[in-house]
Formats: sequence, C-alpha cells, structure tokens
Amino acid sequence: MSDPASRGSNSLRPATLLVHGGGTRSPFGETSEALFLTQSYVFDSMEACEARFKGDDPGFVYSRYGNPTVAMFEERMALLEGAEAARATATGMAAVTAAVMSQVKAGDHVVAARALFGACRYIVEDHLPRYGVASTLVDGADLDGWRAAIRPETRVLFLESPTNPLLDVYDIAAIAAIAHEAGALLVVDNVFATPILQKPLALGADLVAYSATKHIDGGGRCLGGVILGRRELIEGDLQQFLRQTGPALSPFNAWVLLKSLETLSLRVGRQMQTAARIADYLAGHPHVGLVRYPWRADHPHAEIARRQMTGGGTLVAFEVEGGKAAAFAAARELRIIKISSNLGDAKSLITHPATTTHQRLTPEARAALGVTEGLVRLSVGLEDEDDLIDDLARALGALDRRELAAE
Ligand SMILES: Cc1ncc(COP(=O)(O)O)c(C=O)c1O
Repeated sequence: MSDPASRGSNSLRPATLLVHGGGTRSPFGETSEALFLTQSYVFDSMEACEARFKGDDPGFVYSRYGNPTVAMFEERMALLEGAEAARATATGMAAVTAAVMSQVKAGDHVVAARALFGACRYIVEDHLPRYGVASTLVDGADLDGWRAAIRPETRVLFLESPTNPLLDVYDIAAIAAIAHEAGALLVVDNVFATPILQKPLALGADLVAYSATKHIDGGGRCLGGVILGRRELIEGDLQQFLRQTGPALSPFNAWVLLKSLETLSLRVGRQMQTAARIADYLAGHPHVGLVRYPWRADHPHAEIARRQMTGGGTLVAFEVEGGKAAAFAAARELRIIKISSNLGDAKSLITHPATTTHQRLTPEARAALGVTEGLVRLSVGLEDEDDLIDDLARALGALDRRELAAE
C-alpha cells in the first residue's frame, strides 16, 4: 500500500517528500521502508505469470527490471525532482552512460561541455566514437560555441553544472533551448548541485542523471545512480537499454539510499552554509589565490548560479599559492579534512585534481580547464564549521613555516 502522505504529493514540500515520498507498506505495516532482497517473484499460476510478463498485470517480474525497494527509491527521487519517472542504476556512471547511449545510434552526433567528470568525458570522447557516434567538446559557458557545434545529426547535448573541479556554472535553460531548436535532447549531470539546489528538468533539460554515491547517500557507504525525466523518455529506449544491459541497483543499496534521502535537504543545507563561510574565509587568506564558489560575487558565473540554483552548493575550489608542493604540504597538516576524491560525504574531503581526477588529461588540456598545480577541491561535510576553518588555518599556516625555512 502506498503511504497516504505521499499520495497527491505534488503539493508537498521537499522535506516531507524526502521522508514519505514513494513509501509503500507491505501487509506487515512496517514504519520504516522494507528491504526486499529478492531476485525474482512467484506467481499463483502460469496464467498470472503470463499476464505479468505481457504487462497486462502491473507488478514485478525480475529484479533486473524492477524491485519494490528500488521502486520506492525511484519514486521518491521522481517526486523530489518533479519528474514523471525515474530509473535507478548501480552507479552514477551507469546512469550517465545509459542516459546518453540509449538516445543515439551510429551516425549520430553528441555535443558536450569540455569540463566533465573524467569518466563522463571518456564516454563522450573515446567510447561513443567506437560505435560510430561522433562527439564535439565545447566551452560550456559559450552559447555560440554550443550553437556552432550542432550538426544535422546532433541528437544529444550533455553537460554537468556546476562542473568538476572549478565549479563553472552553465546556463541550463539557454542550452536546453539550443538543443530543442536542433531537435536534440539535453542531458544534465546534476551531481554537484544536488536535487535540493537545482532542478534541471524545470529549466528545460530532458534527462537528469545523478551519481547517488555522492550527496544522496551522503555517508560514503554505497554506490548508486538514477536517471529522471518524462515518462515517454524513461520508459522508451532508456528502459530497454537498462533492462537488457543490466546495470540494476542492488535492493540493499536502494534501501540505504532511500533512508539517506530522509536527511538530504538538512545535510545539503548545512554543508552549503559551511561551504559559503569557508569560501569567504579562504578568499581572504594570504596563501590562497583563486577561490571558486558559485554564489560568491567574484564567481564568473554568479549571476547564472543565483538564477538557476537556490544556493551555492557544498563544494569550494581554491588555489594554494606555490603550486603542487605547497598544496601537498598544506594537506599534510590537515587533521579533520580527509584526502579523498569523493564528494558529498558527511566527512569533509579534499582532493588535488591535477594528480587524481584530471591526471589522464595532457598538461595542455588541464590548463585549458583551469586545473592548475595548486588547485584543490574541498567537499564540505557536516563537521562543526569552526573546526573546519581551524583545520584549514593550521594547514595553510604551515606554509608560513615552509617559507621561513626556505629563507
Ligand atoms: C559529476 C559526476 N558524475 C558522475 C560520477 C560517477 O558516479 P559513480 O562514481 O557513482 O559512478 C561522478 C563521481 O564519481 C561525478 O562526480
């Protein structure tokens, strides 16, 4: 039975949807969502089985296609996003790959923003061409660049915003309009913004993909992904692609993610408040050069960020003066903030993109993206904000001693 609090849910606000949305109770009447660890389902008769397989009787057939716990997660995500339908996947990369690959065939063309998460860039730049799908990378902030890259056979435009690691913000509504004028779809990877702070579908995107591994889990426990959009798109080629290629989300992970959603808006709100304060702190620090935080007035895309996001996000990018050696020396002094290339976690995590996520790129390609040797990306967690600022102060303070020692 579906939870009465989630019926007619369009009128409910996000915090309520995150707790009750998509909830379905078994005949036991459990309070917490049930975990259905089952691969398949049994039927009372061959006739009932036939009807289920034909789609005449709605219900579950096999957990690669669907599972009650996974369905609760999908429904809660769809209600939060304002999407007609959603499909969960085992990882964020499975979500992005399915969203893009299910919409193209040999001879088609994809245009994507150059500043993409490394694996997403690999899918567009290296993987699609193997199957005869050409791709062009553009500067995501340059609307004329998007227009110029469109060809008659362009089927998909793809971007993430804010981007990794420099937190560039692209005009989703304008790029959706360019896609639609060309008869193409816009796919948005909304990982950095989270569904709390940005709604790409409402801005005109056709499909939105998440790595649920990040803020949606928020506890660093399990991998997951989800794709959302209009029913016709989700239940068309995309559903077939997922059913036949099989990147299904484990029911256990769906259950973890479902419970995590209950606290998503609280977590993101708090992490964002701390991130904004840390960005201001870093901007005044003598050992810090560039600071990037989407809602700060000095961010090059602050106007778009304020228009299309309801907050500046939970990540801050900044440049430690003195390049890689200085960035590494400061990181050695951190006690609370952990070194990890993950993000969206309750624990604050710091990474050095040039030697990790962007290592695969040539120095020229890194320079074109602004990924300098001193750049670090901080994913702000749920710790006390003063403790985090003290940790950063101690780490950056070590650079004073380093300078003195060098004199
Ligand atoms: C922007 C972005 N998209 C996609 C992914 C892929 O997600 P996953 O690791 O869950 O496959 C990640 C992170 O790893 C990411 O940061």
